[in-house]
Amino acid sequence: MELCIALDLPSAKENLILLEKISSNNNLWIKVGFRSFIRDGKEFLQKIKEINPTFKIFLDLKLYDIPNTMADAAAEIAALDVDMFNIHASSGKRAMQTVMERLNNLPKRPLVLGVTALTSFSNEEFFTIYHQNIDEAVLQFTKNCYEAKLDGVVCSVFESKLIKEHTNAYFITLTPGIRPFNEDANDQKRVANLEVAKENLSDIIVVGRPIYKASNPEQKVKEILASL
Ligand code: C5P
Repeated sequence: MELCIALDLPSAKENLILLEKISSNNNLWIKVGFRSFIRDGKEFLQKIKEINPTFKIFLDLKLYDIPNTMADAAAEIAALDVDMFNIHASSGKRAMQTVMERLNNLPKRPLVLGVTALTSFSNEEFFTIYHQNIDEAVLQFTKNCYEAKLDGVVCSVFESKLIKEHTNAYFITLTPGIRPFNEDANDQKRVANLEVAKENLSDIIVVGRPIYKASNPEQKVKEILASL
């Protein structure tokens, strides 16, 4: 299991200070989301690599559009030299296939994950939009991602094991909504601690607030890494 830290602080400066504090830990995944990328752009991505060149960047932009527009955006993302990004599985199999075909023509491409159901959804909220239960929908989304030859999916811990059973052991599950040692859930609905993440075979856990709101983020990262 690997750790991915969500950089969701209010300014580039605060995010970079956090990264400096944890810079002695090699090979961490660093998740850059909408807020940060819209505000700080590609120069910020370079700064992350300057702090520690082994940091792997996950650009969490959750693309959702028509197939050609998604493939154009995916090619631009690949040119940023990030290590992983994601697209919404609900954009459909054809859109995901178009993205992968475009990326596979490049000499080098980032990993691509499909977003299944956001971990902030309760079953009821999800049903009002998709008219399906989360479990059923996640398996259908996963099937489409797998057949479109994505590298894996973003899902809740509670679906990770089932997803492995329906795909293969190498199909990546990245799971947000992690509260490593049962910290406050905040707005997340389907949260799990490290033990549960491990039991459910999550490959990459995403942790935001429990790290960046901790009184000592460096210590928190060390504790998490020691328990992976
Ligand atoms: O602070 P917290 O640990 O809840 O942060 C989780 C991060 O994972 C946030 O950046 C959120 O946008 C992201 N995320 C999520 N659920 C998804 C996909 C991404 O919470 N399904």
